[in-house]
Amino acid sequence: MTVRTVIKFPNPNLKKISEPVTVFDENLKQLVQDMFETMYEDKGIGLAAPQIDVHKQIVVIDTSEDKSEQRVIINPRFILEEGETGIEEGCLSVPLDYRAYVKRFEHVIVECQNEKGETYQIDAHDLLAICIQHELDHLKGVLFIDYLSSLKRNLLLSKIKKEERRNRK
Ligand code: NI
Repeated sequence: MTVRTVIKFPNPNLKKISEPVTVFDENLKQLVQDMFETMYEDKGIGLAAPQIDVHKQIVVIDTSEDKSEQRVIINPRFILEEGETGIEEGCLSVPLDYRAYVKRFEHVIVECQNEKGETYQIDAHDLLAICIQHELDHLKGVLFIDYLSSLKRNLLLSKIKKEERRNRK
């Protein structure tokens, strides 16, 4: 297993649309394992393939505290979205540990495939539902900060640039 490099905003590759997975082979299983390893290394609860610059519809999620609830979500589509909730979200691809409130559905059902290509559904509420929506957004090139006003996003961008300049010195 290999910890991969997570690309960060404003890297334009985060905006790319991910392609469906068509081949379910050993390489895919290896990639999924690397994604879990990378997510745990960075203490995340979810990671989407585009975050490691692989533009395929693959997401891994584990909202447990002991690595016991690994979920692999490939080629997903929402079949139900209802209710309303929200928390202060963060993202491994957004620098400075930036967090902001995002409105999400409280209950979602997703139909997807696992790494073996088997189709299954996830019926999720609360944190898991939020995490799924956040990660599936990555597959469409959407970051949680895209829901903020452009004023807030530009403020964040200037903070990131400032931090980069400081680190270069
Ligand atoms: Ni994210």
